[in-house]
Amino acid sequence: MNRPSAKPPLVSLADLAPENVRHIAPYVPGKPIGETARELGIPEERILKMASNESPLGPSPRAVDAIRGALDTLHYYPDGSGFELKRKLAPRLGLDPANFVLGNGSNDVLELVARAFLTRDESAVYSRHAFMVYPLAVQAIGAQGIVVPERNYSTDLEAIAAAVRADTKIVFVANPNNPTGSFNPWEDVRRLLERVPGDVLVVVDEAYEEYLPDDLRSPTAKWLARFPNLIVTRTLSKAYGLAGLRVGYAFADPVVAEVMNRVRQPFNVNQLAMVAACAAVDDDEFIARARAVNAAGLEQLAAGFRALGLEFIASRGNFVTVHVPHAAKVYGLLLADGVIVRPVSGYGMPDHLRVTVGLPEHNERFLASLARALGKR
Ligand SMILES: Cc1ncc(COP(=O)(O)O)c(C=O)c1O
Repeated sequence: MNRPSAKPPLVSLADLAPENVRHIAPYVPGKPIGETARELGIPEERILKMASNESPLGPSPRAVDAIRGALDTLHYYPDGSGFELKRKLAPRLGLDPANFVLGNGSNDVLELVARAFLTRDESAVYSRHAFMVYPLAVQAIGAQGIVVPERNYSTDLEAIAAAVRADTKIVFVANPNNPTGSFNPWEDVRRLLERVPGDVLVVVDEAYEEYLPDDLRSPTAKWLARFPNLIVTRTLSKAYGLAGLRVGYAFADPVVAEVMNRVRQPFNVNQLAMVAACAAVDDDEFIARARAVNAAGLEQLAAGFRALGLEFIASRGNFVTVHVPHAAKVYGLLLADGVIVRPVSGYGMPDHLRVTVGLPEHNERFLASLARALGKR
């Protein structure tokens, strides 16, 4: 093709991507069990993965049954409107199906917020150690990310409110946050909403909400009428044990939800995920068990860290982030012992490791392996 151009010759096809995309550092997930087993030359059953905040209880059994029952319907497209799932979620939250946006995991809905509302001339605000998907979603648009310093690894909501500029379109806050596990009292989140102008969308990411004790459960669904700029995201990946299926959702003002649905892929939640989610959301017993196991595990890990003289960040999630001398080396030693945890240097925390709460025997094995790695046993 004869195309007159003043462009310099192409060095790499990656240069075809706009600058904001070229500068995106890819998300690094927890190391997979299969890969670790292959590298160590040991069977997968001997690997303990505590790296991706997955449920140690396995998937909700109701979800598994529902999937078995739906295998013969795979030749159909899923219901792109998610009618059944929204119909189940809405009364649980005192909302209407029109308030909901379903996603291929809550990552998907977080990205939908950016894709639907953010332009490259605008900015989004998030905390220094906030969940990685916020900066990724903002960078993919080419918008500016405003990073707000934290107080002792905790989201500083007053500083977040103060950081909002005339060009700010979105504020992202995770409560509890990952990877720190920090939790902000809900009255402080409400104060943030009161301070932020009504034309700025405030995304409250509640991926770990189900793990909160009764007196700290989220009141945000009740706030939508007063704050139509509020978007709340939730997931079935954590307490419901369905990370592999990829189902998450947002609830928002119906106008906001409708705009997000415009940029959503029509069938972004697959058929098996949809039926499994419908079965799992009513499984209150499973969630109660997940919460109890998690609370006990958080205490077990905290006691173990104290015994090893390690400082850790108090967590309300299903994981704990602990300060470890020579964290990269300790990560390698744990890995060699078949225990996968998560380095968080990508979050600017090179001296910490994040470990997902397991069953009592998992936590015990991890703590024993950590003690050995630190030369304390
Ligand atoms: C704070 C937070 N938000 C959202 C997610 C996304 O989860 P998923 O896409 O599996 O729903 C995670 C997962 O680690 C998370 O930690």
